[in-house]
Amino acid sequence: MKTIKDIVAQKSKERITVLTAYDFPIAAFLDEAAIDIILVGDSLANVVLGLESTTEVGMKEMLHHTRAVVRAVKNALVVGDMPFDSYQLNPRAAVDNAKQFIQEGCGAVKVEWFDEAAKTAASIVKAGIPVMGHVGLTPQTAHKSGGMKVQGKDAASARAIIEQAEKFEEAGCFSVVLECIPLELARIITEKLKVPTIGIGAGPHCDGQVLVIHDLLGLFSRYQPKFSKKYADLGPQILEAVRQYKKEVLSGQFPDDAHSFHLPPDEIKKLK
Ligand code: KIV
Repeated sequence: MKTIKDIVAQKSKERITVLTAYDFPIAAFLDEAAIDIILVGDSLANVVLGLESTTEVGMKEMLHHTRAVVRAVKNALVVGDMPFDSYQLNPRAAVDNAKQFIQEGCGAVKVEWFDEAAKTAASIVKAGIPVMGHVGLTPQTAHKSGGMKVQGKDAASARAIIEQAEKFEEAGCFSVVLECIPLELARIITEKLKVPTIGIGAGPHCDGQVLVIHDLLGLFSRYQPKFSKKYADLGPQILEAVRQYKKEVLSGQFPDDAHSFHLPPDEIKKLK
């Protein structure tokens, strides 16, 4: 099982691989592929539940999907993404909510930057729960920073993001996600911090990379962020398989003998 110590020790030695998962079968594949960290992201809202904003999921949905992921994982570190209302709306509830992720088998939680982020992260760390910080584009509060856009494009806003990452480190976070920032800025932060940075749309100089699994597999067609790379295009394959199934059911080709069960001949006689 990957530990926090293992992840921190990987900084500048071996890049850290992180992917999101929200269910048992995908989490099992990621674990088999030896992905270091599996993040049960609140991107669940967008790519699984079809909602517009990550703020529309709460603890109930996140814990439900966390349980499925944890059941599948034998080696990776599972990180639970704290939903907006579990810490930003009420920072005093943050520790209790973080504990629920740990009780479900997560090894850590993730929190996005907001006004009280450093204090909140420090209180969760003090309760013995490892925390991953998240700066740059923070989707839970993106409306306050101009929407889902690249952040830190001028010196003043870049400096603010550096300070946020440093505050997360001072609060005891074991790693910091850098989302959608210029690669030069990500490089500066990665060099400044002792803990690993995990980039998403932050260029190649981070200590690790994270992608949303639905983007990587081509399972989400509503939008494709510029920074995400499709390593497979499963959408058309799913469509083709489902169309073929429909065709075979309509024609009577499925189910054939190989996919059916038989009653022994003497039992048929008795039945008749
Ligand atoms: O919820 C999520 O998928 C995330 C990643 C983009 C880091 O927070």
